[in-house]
Amino acid sequence: MDDLKDPLDAVASCNGHSENESLFHLEVVQRPQSSFPSERLRKRIEKVVVLALAEAGTPWGKLLQLVCGQGEKSVADLEKHVEAASVFAENDERPDEDDFVAAEQRIVVHVFKLDRDGAQTEDMPEVGEGSESGVACNGIGVQAATHWILPSQDLHGLWESLVFDNDVKVSLLSYVEATLLLSGASVDPNLVSWNKVVLLHGPPGTGKTSLCKALAHKLSIRLSKCYDYGQLVEVNSHSLFSKWFSESGKLVQRMFDSIREIVDDPKAFVCVLLDEVESLAAVRNASGNEPSDAIRVVNALLTQIDALKRCPNVLLLTTSNVTGAIDLAFVDRADLKYFVGLPSVHAAYAMMVGSALELMSKNLLERIYLLSWDNLHSLEKQGGERQRSKRLQVSTTLLEVSRRCEGLSGRTIRKLPFLAVARLVQVTGGRNKKGVFSMQEYLKNLGAAVESQYKEKESLSHSRRCSCGQRRREGTVDEVVDQ
Ligand SMILES: Nc1ncnc2c1ncn2[C@@H]1O[C@H](COP(=O)(O)OP(=O)(O)O)[C@@H](O)[C@H]1O
Ligand SMILES: [Mg+2]
Repeated sequence: MDDLKDPLDAVASCNGHSENESLFHLEVVQRPQSSFPSERLRKRIEKVVVLALAEAGTPWGKLLQLVCGQGEKSVADLEKHVEAASVFAENDERPDEDDFVAAEQRIVVHVFKLDRDGAQTEDMPEVGEGSESGVACNGIGVQAATHWILPSQDLHGLWESLVFDNDVKVSLLSYVEATLLLSGASVDPNLVSWNKVVLLHGPPGTGKTSLCKALAHKLSIRLSKCYDYGQLVEVNSHSLFSKWFSESGKLVQRMFDSIREIVDDPKAFVCVLLDEVESLAAVRNASGNEPSDAIRVVNALLTQIDALKRCPNVLLLTTSNVTGAIDLAFVDRADLKYFVGLPSVHAAYAMMVGSALELMSKNLLERIYLLSWDNLHSLEKQGGERQRSKRLQVSTTLLEVSRRCEGLSGRTIRKLPFLAVARLVQVTGGRNKKGVFSMQEYLKNLGAAVESQYKEKESLSHSRRCSCGQRRREGTVDEVVDQ
């Protein structure tokens, strides 16, 4: 494994490896206190990987241990520098710990430290009357953006926690791969045009904003060989446009000036997140107020976006909860538009299993092996009394609860385990002497939590129907009810 500077090699699935080879990404978190140069650490870890590849019969679980400097035959000192390691296949799945590492596999090692400072907000002074100098009006600035240095501790694990039925995650990574391929080859954008804009749309609570943030974090890891660090800038479009329109134009300009300063650093890979872009359309349609100012603001933003696309190290991620209401100029600019819908039973089951495993790992829930979706279905097909093991019973109940989640958003489904625990703590005898909840009680309360969500949803949509009916008669746009 030589030292590769090509961005593609970091992200790519198709570049530089043969058809028979399968690609894996080994992501290694360096300890915060380790001052060992990350490039040298990467090379040391690559040696461990090369040995495992040469030596037939090393399972993935064992390789991850070795990378963390644990277990027999581990390299001395590695433990001092490595905090954690995980591996992902090209399709973003994690190989089974017991599966063997094989010679025809190609493993790309990414070593990175997590930024632990968290999000920083950027206040822009309002440029109101008498404040041309840029001094804040009434001492209050506009909270224009939130910044993260990436990879960030805040966002670590988010990508893995998001469950989708379709290939949205792999498509997003391939999209970035394609943009890097074109930029890297200096393809003339007048002949092959791409905008570096992604639009995720769909009902609220389906993980769009989280996915954008998680993608930015993931890219900063996968591109760590080409860029020293990443930055995520989340533009607060609501506060940017809630101000007087005449001032918003200047705020947009300032906002993008400061983004340009970051982008000008060729060592940084920058993701700009424009959440809920439907607010822009609302600005354009706000004809009651000064319409020409409103249109000027949106145009200023579109011009800035067009200017950004010339920079090789920037990506614009946008989301919308209401597809029909997005500004058409925006929809047109997006290279990749992806509908993110409500989770299927399969996705709901994966979320339920993930939450239960987390509670088990923290010794809050009785430990029972839960079956994967595929294993559960093949065991169910086999049928028979002998198969009615506890794990099958528990997994089947969890599947029934997941089936009842159809129509609920990912946000609601992720909340259910908490609601079940909240119910359980009220019950005496819900926990054993060690304070662990019994699985049976947990599942019962999980089911009850689902039912209560439906009741809430029904009463919410009933009251919305009443008020929406009123507004529709007055000619306003439809709203999507968040669960
Ligand atoms: N598909 C999903 N998989 C896992 N968690 C999800 C999913 N969709 C939503 N969530 C949960 O809901 C929370 C809110 O999601 P968010 O990204 O704000 O949704 P949106 O932007 O679509 O409204 C997330 O933090 C996550 O915990
Ligand atoms: Mg959102």
